[in-house]
Amino acid sequence: MSWKTLEMECRRCTGCPLHATRTNVVFGVGNTESPIMFIGEGPGEKEDLQGEPFVGRAGKLLDDMLSLIDLDRTNIYIANMVKCRPPGNRDPLPLERQACSGWLDRQIELINPKFIVCLGRIAAMRFMGEDFKITLDHGKWYDVQGRKVMALFHPAALLRDPRRRPDTFEDLKRIQAALKEAEK
Ligand code: URA
Ligand code: SF4
Repeated sequence: MSWKTLEMECRRCTGCPLHATRTNVVFGVGNTESPIMFIGEGPGEKEDLQGEPFVGRAGKLLDDMLSLIDLDRTNIYIANMVKCRPPGNRDPLPLERQACSGWLDRQIELINPKFIVCLGRIAAMRFMGEDFKITLDHGKWYDVQGRKVMALFHPAALLRDPRRRPDTFEDLKRIQAALKEAEK
């Protein structure tokens, strides 16, 4: 399936109850040729209204974090676990994550990134398993189906608890180093 077809089909998806309350499907944004993909949880209010991931306060912080290591929305791809907004910004339910996972799987297949960065525990659990502990295991590279996968604290968590920012800075530096190494 081509990227265009995938996006068109996803925009019409009614695969879980979240379709009923969405304004827009938030498919993803960025460079589909990138060696690195960032994966969040699900759209919030602003994302639902604009149809783009990470455009609210947490998104602004994400942009700032990315710019520290010379990344932006033109040289990475950003998507979410679920493409439609969970009402009231609650965590996406297991059933919704399950229903939506095929879209993300196909995005990953087509982009075929060397690196995946999970934003927060919910996204990390999908790749590293239910036992993943974000406070202990952020910043570590895991080998998952031939890709290097790392989790960062979710930018919304960094807004709530700025004491975690120095750790995230270190994690970002490790991402930068891995990208440089892969370029060689
Ligand atoms: N939080 C997420 O996980 N994803 C978004 O797109 C916005 C906020
Ligand atoms: Fe379809 Fe995913 Fe939206 Fe549910 S959240 S309706 S599975 S695109």
